[in-house]
Amino acid sequence: MIENPGALVKLISHGVYVIGVGVGDHQNAFTAAWVMQVSFDPLLLAISINPAHYSYQLLQESGVCTVNVLGQDQYALAEHFGRSAPDKMAGFQWHLAETGAPVLSESLAYFDCQISHYADAGDHKIAVCKVVTAATLKQGLPLLYSQTGDMDGSSELFSS
Ligand SMILES: Cc1cc2nc3c(=O)[nH]c(=O)nc-3n(C[C@H](O)[C@H](O)[C@H](O)COP(=O)(O)O)c2cc1C
Repeated sequence: MIENPGALVKLISHGVYVIGVGVGDHQNAFTAAWVMQVSFDPLLLAISINPAHYSYQLLQESGVCTVNVLGQDQYALAEHFGRSAPDKMAGFQWHLAETGAPVLSESLAYFDCQISHYADAGDHKIAVCKVVTAATLKQGLPLLYSQTGDMDGSSELFSS
């Protein structure tokens, strides 16, 4: 038995990111905490994504995304992009990365990525992404997943 899994997994440290997906007229952005570096050369990141998300469909169609690092003062952005809503990107400033995926201009830094491959992971899919370009946009300390409490509603999602 796993006692209080929701509290225990919060002890595994993650940042909080806005993932910009898609190209052209078909773009979206969503909050993700399950992001990690998985290779030095080539530089690869892995993003764990729920395949039920609209963003997953766009990720599959376009094959590209950006990983935008949120700062400690960007809790409200994490909340905004952590919900499904029409036209979620409106009201924020975006610019296009080299791949054509959207970059959140007010993030601390971004990684522009091409999807290399997917792996199954229970109720999620792991998108393994090759970093094409990356840049710092402003200085600041990154927001941590443990600082978001139950913003993602994950305490309800464990079976044990
Ligand atoms: C702090 C936080 C972390 C999250 N981490 C992830 C994650 O790593 N992977 C994921 O698939 N969804 C994650 N979510 C949930 C998605 O952001 C959320 O379901 C969103 O509505 C999906 O966007 P879409 O429906 O517009 O595609 C997280 C949400 C929050 C608030």
